[in-house]
Amino acid sequence: MKIGNIDIGKRLFLAPMAEVTDSPFRKICKEQGAGITFTQMVSAEGVIKNNFDTLRYLSFSRTEKPIGVQVLGNDPEILKEAAKEISKLKPDLIDLNCGCPVDKVVSCNMGSALLDSPKTIGLLVRKMVEGANGVPVSVKLRLGKDKNHINIFDTAKEVEENGGSLIFVHARTRADRYETNSDWNWIKKVKEIAKIPVVGNGSIFTPQDAKEMIESTGCDSAMVARGALGNPFIFSRFNLLMETGTEPGEPNAAIVKEVLLNHINYLETEFGELNALDKAKKNSIWYFRNYAGIDFLLSNVFGLKSLGSIRSIIEEHTTKILNNGYSESGKTDIHKKFQKKVLFWLTEEKVHSLS
Ligand SMILES: Cc1cc2nc3c(=O)[nH]c(=O)nc-3n(C[C@H](O)[C@H](O)[C@H](O)COP(=O)(O)O)c2cc1C
Repeated sequence: MKIGNIDIGKRLFLAPMAEVTDSPFRKICKEQGAGITFTQMVSAEGVIKNNFDTLRYLSFSRTEKPIGVQVLGNDPEILKEAAKEISKLKPDLIDLNCGCPVDKVVSCNMGSALLDSPKTIGLLVRKMVEGANGVPVSVKLRLGKDKNHINIFDTAKEVEENGGSLIFVHARTRADRYETNSDWNWIKKVKEIAKIPVVGNGSIFTPQDAKEMIESTGCDSAMVARGALGNPFIFSRFNLLMETGTEPGEPNAAIVKEVLLNHINYLETEFGELNALDKAKKNSIWYFRNYAGIDFLLSNVFGLKSLGSIRSIIEEHTTKILNNGYSESGKTDIHKKFQKKVLFWLTEEKVHSLS
């Protein structure tokens, strides 16, 4: 499929994820063959007010292209102005967030709250297209407010009729948040009526899932979020699967270690040691969540106070995995917990205190 003049074929998209899709993670996913990545969501108002953090979230290097930028907003003129400012950075896609179900976003009538009014989405897209100086505009949609109010045909039609170039269909409703399985049938139905490309999203955790989504729905490509956390290998494995019909399966712990250590180096360069610490710990758990001995890592990594000690524990942990030093396999339970909540090792109270 093409975005503007760039042909990304069927390569997978890395979905926008707040607090996650920073430049180090995007670089690692790109190295592993992601078709296009996204910056973290930014507020349209923050863009036009030149807010420091917003501009930092927006920055990307030339080598990261093709890349998308996602905005959050509900005011047509502000979104138009924001699209104009963002277009100066020359991203390959500017996306409107119509999917975020978080209370503080919905209560401001942004994100998935916009799904209640397809006409408003149409107006916002038209304004963004006017401001975007030819950069394609996309919209990331959910199916609707809840199972009784599915209106994805209406919202998709508004995107298309108002100059949108691409529709992302996250095949859940706002009420589903992330907990339920996605209903890919809706991706198929949208693809059947849409005249612009449709990219499916939801519940892809393996390369086979992505292939199945594309084949069973006919969507132009697929986009992965949680399935890429600590698992940038999903992109290279998917590309191989599509090219050759087969793929090597999960990498061994030595490869996981090598890529994780590269990731930590990128984090240190981007954020400095102090600010990289928590991100390095979080990623270490994600990378090794499917391998034996995850309980050892969970109990030992969070107390560490330097990147050097994190690197050492990763070395030690990998050697132990490779030497079959852990008795338990550590797989299924953690994986289930992860699908439900990506920061599965934190209590609800702790998660709320972080947000
Ligand atoms: C930690 C996290 C942060 C997210 N942040 C955003 C965001 O900023 N913008 C957005 O449109 N979706 C966001 N999402 C939703 C994902 O992009 C994606 O639509 C959703 O997780 C479903 O895909 P999956 O089943 O592959 O995880 C986020 C999801 C997670 C897990």
